[in-house]
Parts: sequence; C-alpha cells; structure tokens
Amino acid sequence: MLKMPELSDTKPVVVIIDDDTNILELTSLILAKNGFQPYIAERPCEGLELISIHAPALVLLDYMMPEMDGLSALQQIKTRFPDTYVVMLTGKGSEEVAVELMKNGASEYILKPFNNRNLVERLESVLKIRGIELRNRELQKRQEQLLSEIEQWNLELQKRVREKSEALQDAQEEIVQSEKLAALGYLSAGVAHEIRNPLNSISLFVQLMRQTTTEPDQLEYQTKILKEVDRIDSIIRKLLDASRRTRIISSNVQLNQVVNNVIEAFLPQIEARRIQIDRQYHCIPSPITADPAELEQIFTNLFLNAMDSMSLDGRLAIEIFEKDSRVIVRVADSGNGIPEDVLPRIFDPFFSTKSRGTGMGLPVAQRIAGMYEGSMVVEHSSPVGTTFRLEFPACR
Ligand SMILES: Nc1ncnc2c1ncn2[C@@H]1O[C@H](COP(=O)(O)OP(=O)(O)OP(=O)(O)O)[C@@H](O)[C@H]1O
Ligand SMILES: [Mg+2]
Repeated sequence: MLKMPELSDTKPVVVIIDDDTNILELTSLILAKNGFQPYIAERPCEGLELISIHAPALVLLDYMMPEMDGLSALQQIKTRFPDTYVVMLTGKGSEEVAVELMKNGASEYILKPFNNRNLVERLESVLKIRGIELRNRELQKRQEQLLSEIEQWNLELQKRVREKSEALQDAQEEIVQSEKLAALGYLSAGVAHEIRNPLNSISLFVQLMRQTTTEPDQLEYQTKILKEVDRIDSIIRKLLDASRRTRIISSNVQLNQVVNNVIEAFLPQIEARRIQIDRQYHCIPSPITADPAELEQIFTNLFLNAMDSMSLDGRLAIEIFEKDSRVIVRVADSGNGIPEDVLPRIFDPFFSTKSRGTGMGLPVAQRIAGMYEGSMVVEHSSPVGTTFRLEFPACR
C-alpha cells in the first residue's frame, strides 16, 4: 500500500513567513477561508520552528526579510524538509530573483501585491503538483525496493543453481569412479582367466623341455621358470578369489585389532627396512560394522604406499581415537609426501606415479571405507610425510 502524502479530508497545512504583519493576517485569513490550515511567523527562525512542528505541505515565504534573506531561508527549508513545497512572495520587478529562487527549489513565486483568487489558485496548483510528485517519489522508492528484492532473489537463485551444479558434478564424478572400479573387477576377472591358459601352456612346454635335457644350467633355468609361473598363477588365483569372494559382515569389528593384524603381516618388511612402528591407541575403540577382511585391505594398501614412500629407518605412526561417535584412525608416514599437483588425483582409479603401480590401492580403500559409511582423506602431506585420516561410525 502506498502512503498517501495528503489525506483529502484533512486541511493542507501552510506556514506563512513574512515580516509584514498585515500580509500575515490577510493571507492567513484568505487561506483559512479557502480550506487551508495556516500558521504564521514573522521571522524566518520562527517559521522554521513551525515547519518542524507542523510538517506543512506548503510554505509561503517572503523574499525580503530583515533577519534572513529569502534565498537562505528557502535553502534551509528545502534541505531540512524536502517534502515541504515553498512558494515565494516577491516584490514587483524582481523576476530575475524569482528565476534564481525557482532554481533553488521554490515551486512557485507570487508577485506582490496579489489578489485573493490568484493566491488560492496558485497554491492549489502547487499542492496538486506536490501530491503527484510525492506519489511519484513513493512509487520510485517502491520500485527500487522491488528491484533490489529481485536482485536478491536472483543472487539466491544463482547460488542455489551453483550449489546444485556442483553437487551434480560430484555425483557424476562418483559414478565415473565406481564405473571404473566395477570395470576393473570385471576386467581383472576376465584377464586372469585369459592369462591362465597361456600360463598353463608355458608350464607344459617347460616340463617337456626338462625331459629332453640333462644340462644342469638348463635344468636350473627351467626350474626357475616353473617357479615364476607358479607365482603368477597364485597371484591370479588371489585376484579371482577376491572378485568372487563374498562379504562377511560383522557388527563387532575392532579397528585396533584390524590394524594390529595388518602390522603383523608387514613385520618382515618392517624389520628389513628398519621401520619404527608407533601405535597410539587412545582408547579401546567402539566396534564398527564391516567386513574385517575388507578393512584389512584398506590398511594393507595404506601401509604399502607408506613403505613405498619411505627410505630405510622410516617411521609409521598409527593413532586411534574416538570422537562424536566416530572411530578415527590416523596413519602417518615419514615418507617424501604427495606433491601438490598429484594430491587431487590420488583417489582416481588407475592413477599412479609408480612405474609398476596399478593406481588401484587408494580408490579401492576409499570405496571400502565409503561402503561402511566411513570416509578417508589426506589430512596432511608435506615433503617429510603424509597423514591419512579414516573415520567410521561407531556401533553402540
Ligand atoms: N603415503 C604416500 N606417500 C606419498 N605418496 C603417496 C602415498 N600414498 C599414495 N601416494 C601417491 O598416490 C598414488 C596413488 O596411490 P595408489 O595406492 O592408489 O596407487 P599406487 O600405489 O601407485 O599403485 P598400487 O597401489 O597398485 O601399488 C601413488 O602413486 C603415489 O603417488
Ligand atoms: Mg598403492
């Protein structure tokens, strides 16, 4: 709703400022008779006081006053009370002055002496213009307000679109990652199968060769070949087992035990490379729900990477604690760190900086963590070491 500048059933207030008391009396009489509510002041400062009290629609202001000239009074009124319109009273022959007054914000000028009819008509027309202008100003303000509201909505909308697009992109990336992983499982099963046949042939041919030679060197080489073939076969068997393996989920998995098992399996390497193991288990962690073998897989992958990144006499620190119903494990190595440009890609399937790396260690570990509503991130990495942080919801 627009605020109406003037209610039609209230009388428009006019403050008349003139040092001539006759004019004051006369004009106030005329205006009162013609439906105005006049207030009179002999001196400009009194007039300003009246304006601040009554907030008049109009001021009738004499140009020639002893105390303050009409122009300064006009300027003061227009700066302090912009909604009050000023009509100047000027003597005959001072049209130039009148123009100057209009430039300074006067709405109209009336030459003295004036007749009653003319005065009232001129004031009414200024009042009309004032009404329209004030309404316009109000509309303009409202329009600006609406525009700024629309601008706000726009910004909000843009923000939401941006957020949704980002979420969509994240989801798409996740789909690509899991598709790659699924493809890998499928691929490795297929490849493993295909490799076993030629491997079988190699083994058969070598066994045939063994029957046709007695040369000790030859025999030794053949034995080595057969051993290596066996090794490849056992790796393939493991791969096939893993892809066929069914999950055994328990709701009572202790992460400290999982970590201990993996450390145990790594002992020969730990000793050979003189790695110092530093266990900081701050509590007996609450059990979590998972397949313990898959959790071991996570730590195996992490420890393998840590070993790769450390030279002799490194240090591997494992910290376990609980916070906000989450079991948290930190794995920190004293290796050479992950360079900044590599960091954003380490969880991408097939990404590896190693000549013989598959790039599957971390994505598989992260996927397993995610499967049990956990998370896995790099908490910190610098040229003196890397810390991975894993979190899992605790079972209560
Ligand atoms: N602890 C670490 N210190 C330094 N770099 C690391 C560490 N862990 C991972 N990385 C980096 O992340 C890359 C990806 O690791 P990920 O385990 O996925 O694959 P990989 O180790 O290269 O291959 P694979 O696991 O098959 O041996 C590594 O090649 C290495 O550059
Ligand atoms: Mg790895």
